[in-house]
Amino acid sequence: MGDDPASKVYVGRKEAMCQELNMYSEKYALPAETTQEELVSLVEKLNNDDKIHGILVQLPLPKGLDEKAVINTINPEKDVDAFHPVNVGKIMIGDFDFVPCTPAGIMEMIKESGCEVEGKNCVVIGRSNIVGKPMSMLLLHQNGTVTTCHSRTKNLKDITKEADILVAAVGRANFVTADMVKEGAVVIDVGMNRLEDGTLCGDVDYAEVSKIAGAITPVPGGVGPMTISMLMQNTITAAEKKA
Ligand code: GUN
Repeated sequence: MGDDPASKVYVGRKEAMCQELNMYSEKYALPAETTQEELVSLVEKLNNDDKIHGILVQLPLPKGLDEKAVINTINPEKDVDAFHPVNVGKIMIGDFDFVPCTPAGIMEMIKESGCEVEGKNCVVIGRSNIVGKPMSMLLLHQNGTVTTCHSRTKNLKDITKEADILVAAVGRANFVTADMVKEGAVVIDVGMNRLEDGTLCGDVDYAEVSKIAGAITPVPGGVGPMTISMLMQNTITAAEKKA
């Protein structure tokens, strides 16, 4: 909804990935003036459409719209973002069908890097509902020892220095510097910050941290493509469950 430039890019990539996979998709680009009732009734229409197995409402919504009410309208069985409270609760319990896409992509990359989570010190910087909180839960389910840090955390560097796995989801360019990272750590950068000159940059100072990390994700080209792949995976799960 509206014309958030980042949302346009993300939605465009999701649509392109559907086409690449030959997965049927419908995109609704609604003007910012669309009312809450109109948006909710579109979600209800898609809830009742048997052709559609997954629904995603790109966030943020324009000011004045109630995101929570819109998310609560999505049928949890079609909630491929795993944002509905039913799915959030299932993740907490550890009995879930849909995994929030960004944390799911990160878990895949950690696995691919050959890093065992069990018993490791995992530090997540950020506590958002979309990334930080579910990320901490997924690491915990894999028997990591998890610390969730945020803007009020004291002595952040002392904590991050102990991390075997460090996930940065702060939203501040180059926030994680080399002195905050343990030698050999697996460093995952969720940041997507646009600098004044227009370049994209993560939350981690890649040039310096990559010299000491055991494995590190770049921005762009790291977490972002994985997030979209996991969205497709969740949609296939939804379709399989329905079938
Ligand atoms: N805005 C930023 N990240 C996301 C996401 O993963 N899903 C949706 N729906 N909106 C977002």
